[in-house]
Amino acid sequence: MKKIIIAIDGFSSCGKSTMAKSLARNIGYLYFDSGAMYRAVSLYCLQNGLIENNEVNEEALRLAIDDICISFEADPVTKNSITLLNGVNVEKEIRSLQVSRIVSIVAALDFVRTAMIEQQRQMGKSKGIVMDGRDIGTTVFPDAELKIFVTASAQVRAQRRYDEIIARGDKANYEEILENVRQRDHIDQTREVSPLRQAHDAILLDNSNMTLQEQEEWLVNLFHKTVAAC
Ligand code: DC
Repeated sequence: MKKIIIAIDGFSSCGKSTMAKSLARNIGYLYFDSGAMYRAVSLYCLQNGLIENNEVNEEALRLAIDDICISFEADPVTKNSITLLNGVNVEKEIRSLQVSRIVSIVAALDFVRTAMIEQQRQMGKSKGIVMDGRDIGTTVFPDAELKIFVTASAQVRAQRRYDEIIARGDKANYEEILENVRQRDHIDQTREVSPLRQAHDAILLDNSNMTLQEQEEWLVNLFHKTVAAC
């Protein structure tokens, strides 16, 4: 069967990763979380003192960017995808609120995007991948055979992120998370480089009132239809 590239873009906390992961598992494709890559670069900034009061030391980060290598591997036990920053498992650290607070700033830097896009294109060289993010269908893989643009209300998205953090056993504040979701939407949509927008050939999915199972069936059907038409 012909292998394709599936690009899943949309607002933060829409459940893109959950849907992309389950789709990849169902159809035997590799899954790549491009947001995790920007989160890992943000973590690198925190770990190396390259960010202070929401100001990135651009000069230092520019010098370091080619030495920041992000890769993914499957957890030997859960089989979930793990993000590695220069070979070190940072999956938990990149999901912290500290990283969430600064990631939009780091992701808006043109040289960071250029470096990540290059790594992302390498990951898609052999096709057979599902990648989620903000600019996968518009910039990283403009020729992707299947593009989905996901949205849901800010309140639904904040609640999902809140539930995720609580389920991990960490503390969370719903209002703070809602504010963070709104801020990130604004930065993601208005940044100069690769702003978040729906590709003209992407299919819109509003999953505010959809169950995970409904969503999964919808996606797998769409995948089979797309491959049959290729
Ligand atoms: O999907 P996420 O919330 O983990 O993404 C983290 C941040 O990275 C988010 O603020 C937007 C940014 N991002 C991006 O600019 N481009 C991508 N392809 C993926 C994520």
